[in-house]
Amino acid sequence: MHSTGMSDAKRQQWSGRITHGLVSQLARLDPHTHSHSARVARLSVYFGMKLGLCAQELVTLQAAGLLHDIGKLRINRRVLRKPGPLTRRERCEIQRHPQYGFEMLAALPNPALREITLKHHERLDGKGYPHGIRELPLLVRVLQIADAWDGLGSHRPYCRAIPSSRIRRMLSSPDNDFGFDPELLERFLALTTRVFPDYDSIADQSAA
Ligand SMILES: [Fe+2]
Ligand SMILES: [Fe+2]
Repeated sequence: MHSTGMSDAKRQQWSGRITHGLVSQLARLDPHTHSHSARVARLSVYFGMKLGLCAQELVTLQAAGLLHDIGKLRINRRVLRKPGPLTRRERCEIQRHPQYGFEMLAALPNPALREITLKHHERLDGKGYPHGIRELPLLVRVLQIADAWDGLGSHRPYCRAIPSSRIRRMLSSPDNDFGFDPELLERFLALTTRVFPDYDSIADQSAA
């Protein structure tokens, strides 16, 4: 109902304002997730361009990169920044962030963006969270590879950043258990070798 009578330009303006508000909130309250999200946006769009995605899909990937972890704003700070191993209960709490994000983005008129947010930790084999959904559209499969690449390569409260050469080995190992789309993963790894061999230093700067 909210879109009735609203021009495309108005809708875009309105959507841009909501996105900007949420991204600013993330920058203020959780700078670590904010800088991770900015890198995931850049990386996903770059990967999407190399895959030949259309302009609308790239715009969605950009917004989804910035907002995919927005649900973490609803997670208890103490749990989110806990330096040691998480209890089962704490892990369950963190695993709710895709669902929270989906709910927080309800006002945005882009169903694909909400779907990416909801499904970015789901897996094709059904072992993902929060719902064990197996049907993952292309944009979800694209973003989740960029997300994992940056997540593993960044400092996290419970674990130090992994160098990109090791991440590349982990992801390309035949017995890796990430559950990504194998064809897309192969294309992404080819890009990371050629295009951003110095990714470690980029992630290090924004983690400081
Ligand atoms: Fe996430
Ligand atoms: Fe993420």
